[in-house]
Amino acid sequence: MNKDISGILCDEAELDSIVKRLAGEINRDYAGKSVVVVGILKGSAIFLADLFRRLEIDCTLDFMAVSSYGSETIPSGSLRIEKNLSTDISGKHVLIVEDILDTGNTLYALKAYLEELHPCSVRLCTLLDKPSRREKPITADYCGREVENQFIVGYGLDYDEHYRNLPYIGILSPSVYRK
Ligand code: PRP
Repeated sequence: MNKDISGILCDEAELDSIVKRLAGEINRDYAGKSVVVVGILKGSAIFLADLFRRLEIDCTLDFMAVSSYGSETIPSGSLRIEKNLSTDISGKHVLIVEDILDTGNTLYALKAYLEELHPCSVRLCTLLDKPSRREKPITADYCGREVENQFIVGYGLDYDEHYRNLPYIGILSPSVYRK
């Protein structure tokens, strides 16, 4: 195990079974439909790569890079878009794929932004959910697993851009971020 990791929260076998289950739910719900899968960079990249290749429905792939700041009177107003869609989603089913739903600020604003583009539907798939941290009323339509408020990294999740390459999700040793 990496020396900066104090414990494993989700090992490779569990990740594999979560991805399999989520893909099954998505394949069932979107059977016969077409969906634009939107990965939110960068954290979702590894999860998305595993999930996407298990989808058996008609789907296309696009990416956004976003963050949120402060609070605005218009929900989508607090969204900072660093990379926007290259797909016209009007009239289409959209599935957002995220690594983690935390305060909900980013996804709440992103969902509101996407709804303004007149898609047929917008759903959210997240690998991890920290419901205890929620500040905005948003829930995932597809959720891999709920986690407590721990500092976790790996399988796409970072600390200061590092550890995304770990094949498991681990708990970051406090000695790393208390330096
Ligand atoms: C993470 C995650 C979500 C957001 C969730 O991204 O991928 O986009 O934070 O947090 P929230 O629910 O509190 O808004 P991050 O900004 O860390 O960027 P990254 O994906 O590039 O690591």
